[in-house]
Amino acid sequence: MSHGTQTDAAATRAATVRRIAEQHASARGPLMPALHGVVAELGHIDPLDVPVVADVLNLSVAEVHGVVSFYTDFRTRPAPAHTVHLCRAESCQALGSQPLYEDTVRRFAGREDVEVDHVFCFGNCPLGPSGTVDGRLHGRLTPERITRLTQDWQP
Ligand code: FES
Repeated sequence: MSHGTQTDAAATRAATVRRIAEQHASARGPLMPALHGVVAELGHIDPLDVPVVADVLNLSVAEVHGVVSFYTDFRTRPAPAHTVHLCRAESCQALGSQPLYEDTVRRFAGREDVEVDHVFCFGNCPLGPSGTVDGRLHGRLTPERITRLTQDWQP
């Protein structure tokens, strides 16, 4: 990608973020809806979006940054193509979720397109270790099952 194209893309993104923030500027408590609007339309909140939102809403960059980093559901990087989210709460821990999580992290280390993360309880405790693979819930997960469920994921 040429430098010019990157700059154009950044300018287009900034204009989009500005438009979204302006749509919420007159609301009471506009920051959360504006940030959700950016995630809904652009997939994540880039660090460069923060000053744009702050400017439109008359907030400090620190305030906006604080909210973005406090709420982990505001993605600050593009969404990966694939996700494996494993439960590490108590029942699943008792059924071996910790080594499964560590094995899965190692397996996908260095894969930018795969996000391995942990969550605390899917409410699927008797069937642990539980986890989602690309958003779909599975129980009784093992390394072998994860291999099968992810076998089509090309790097
Ligand atoms: S403890 Fe893992 S699903 Fe509840």
